[in-house]
Parts: sequence; C-alpha cells; structure tokens
Amino acid sequence: MSCVITNIGQLVTFDPADPDRPIRTDAALVIDEGLVPWVGDAANAPAADTRIDADGAAVIPGFVDSHSHLVFAGDRVAEFEARMTGRPYTAGGIRTTVAATRAASDDDLRARLAHLVAQSRAQGTTTLEIKSGYGLSLADEERALRLAREVTDETTFLGAHVVPAEFAHDRGAYVDLVCGDMLAACAPHARWVDVFIDSGAFTVDEARRILTAGRDAGLGLRVHAGQLEADGGVALAVELDAASVDHCTHLTDADIAALAESARGGAGTVATLLPLVEFSTKQPYLDARRLLDAGVAIAIASDCNPGSNYSSSVPLAVALAVRELGMTPLEALAAATRGGARALRRTDVGHLGVGARGDAVILDAPDYRYLAYRPGVPLVRTVVVGGVDIAHLRQAR
Ligand code: NIG
Ligand code: FE
Repeated sequence: MSCVITNIGQLVTFDPADPDRPIRTDAALVIDEGLVPWVGDAANAPAADTRIDADGAAVIPGFVDSHSHLVFAGDRVAEFEARMTGRPYTAGGIRTTVAATRAASDDDLRARLAHLVAQSRAQGTTTLEIKSGYGLSLADEERALRLAREVTDETTFLGAHVVPAEFAHDRGAYVDLVCGDMLAACAPHARWVDVFIDSGAFTVDEARRILTAGRDAGLGLRVHAGQLEADGGVALAVELDAASVDHCTHLTDADIAALAESARGGAGTVATLLPLVEFSTKQPYLDARRLLDAGVAIAIASDCNPGSNYSSSVPLAVALAVRELGMTPLEALAAATRGGARALRRTDVGHLGVGARGDAVILDAPDYRYLAYRPGVPLVRTVVVGGVDIAHLRQAR
C-alpha cells in the first residue's frame, strides 16, 4: 500500500544523503510499505494508491522522544505546586511514585500507559523510548518493562533510579540485585540500561558497575547525569560509550570537550537536553550554544514523568530550546528528530530521506518555525506513522 503526500508548503527532510538541503519547497513524499522510497519535486511525483493533501502546510519528520518514564500510577501534583512556591526538586519524590506503582494492577498500569502514549502520538511523537524505574523490585521492574514493550521497542531498564526504602540501610545489596537477578529478569524486555547519577540516587562508581553489567547482558547504555550538579556522570557516559547522557543541566568545560570529542568519532555519546524539566523544576536553563559551538551532538526529549516534568509535549520542548537554550528553530527541530534518533542509535527514523520509516507530521502551520513561534498551540494536524494517517485510523475505530 503506497501513499503520496502532496501540496506540501515546506518539507523538512533532514535527509542525511542531502545534508546541505534540510528543507525543500515544492516537494512531495511517497511512503510505501511503511518506508520512504521517493522524495523529490512535486511535479515529478510518482502515482500511489492513496494521497494525503497537506493543503500548503509544513511537513516534518515525526518526533523521536528518546527519554520518557511513562509506566507509573498516581501523580505528584502537590509536589509540583510546592516547587512553584520555592521548594527544590529532589530525587526523593520518586519513592512516592514507586509506592503507587507497586500497588497498581497490570490492567491499570497498561491503561494509563496507553493513554500517555496516545497523548504523545497526538503531539507528533512517532518513536518513543520508555524507561522502567518506578518498580524497584525484581517483579515490579520486570512488569514495567513487559508493559512498555507492548507499546515500543525502545525500552530501558532503570532499576537504578533510586535506592528503594527497604534497602535504605544496605544500598550495596540493592546494587547487587540490580546487577544480578533483576537485570537477568529485565534484560529480555529491554534494549537499554540506564542509571540516575545524583547525590540522591547513585554514585559514579555504582553506575559504572551497573552499566558494565548491563552491557555484558547485551544492553545499550544510557545515563541520567548533571541534573542537579556536575557529578562526573558525563565523563563516565563518554568513557563507556553510552548512546546518550541525559539532562546535562550542569556541565563542566571538560564535560563539553569530552562530548565533542566523542561526537567526532561517529555515533558517540549524544547530550540529550530536557528543557521541560528546567521549566517544571525552576532550574536554570543550560546554554546550548556552548555545546553546539563545541561540536557536541544534541538531542531534545520530553522526559515526561510524574515528578520533574509531567509534559510529553516535544513541540513545547522545541519552543523552550529556542526561547531559553539559545538554539535556532532548525537546530531545535533537528535535535528533536535526528538528534533523538542518534541518541537511540537509529538511522531509520528522525528524517524523511529515502529508506527512512514513513513517520511524518503535517503541521497546522506553513512553516516549521511556527513550533517555536506559537508555543502551546496545537500545531500537529496529522500524524502519519509508516505511511498511515493515524488520525484517520482513530476515526475508523
Ligand atoms: O529524569 N532524574 C531522574 N528521573 C526523572 C525524574 C523522576 C521523578 O522525579 O519521578 C527525571 O527527571
Ligand atoms: Fe529521566
């Protein structure tokens, strides 16, 4: 089944085969059996089984949200309100969500997850990474990853989110569990392993043990670091060739140099910036220009979770990246698409060149810059996944 998108006002391809021309005008896009076999001038567009008329709108690659925590129960709205009046964010709030998540049934967690994923999709996210981390027991972490696997292949084992209350007096035993039986139970459902490095969570040395064990179990590596202070996590991520180090709110010059050096070699370690967290915790925003000018590879993701940020809006993250992090609209959009793909070590998503997956968003705007220009406005008109307009699918059900 093939489909051609025509009448496109502005097509952002980020085609790696055509790096000097990220944006095309008068273009059309064909999607066949879920992939892009052709992109080019509208006048030369081949025939297809179906046609989507973009009505002069901008078309962009679907967002690649490479960082989310969507398997949980309960909320922390009171904690959010307290933060807005001055209480600082700390990792300790995670334990509140752990208690609610452990108490929830599989069906409840599955329904909540489905709802959150549908919200992400409706905002243009077509590839979504989801972490565990609110179970923190063997059975609860395994359950979280099993449920996440039902909705995405990009699942991440985050047993090392915080030390759960029952291990508060024996954190070494918890690290042993994470590296041992918990990892063995979770690895079959996960593509990645992640560790939260923070004074309220895990040390660099504990993280090295856990990440090395995860790598030995066949998982790719991701790291939470630099959220509340420069904590040595970036250096560890680069040392272990993690695909991504996320947050990076606090970075030293040496961290930036190490990230830039790692990006020069090819895949390397991507710095994944999460500006919605700064927004929702009242932390200072990072200056992304320091990273871009040094040559660091950057992704932007949502980090949707019930604590530090409960927004799944990648468009809003893009707007904040432009308004607060100093990125151009094109840099911010690239970070939320191609950057996210690189952070997941994927070449088939995050762009609309030949061979990419047919995941595209038709905006309710003539120009991609409207994503930053009109923050908070629902600019995602149509989400196309594998060549299928999922809004039409929803109506058909
Ligand atoms: O990425 N930093 C650690 N984990 C989440 C927050 C989790 C929570 O507060 O529930 C984050 O911000
Ligand atoms: Fe996170």
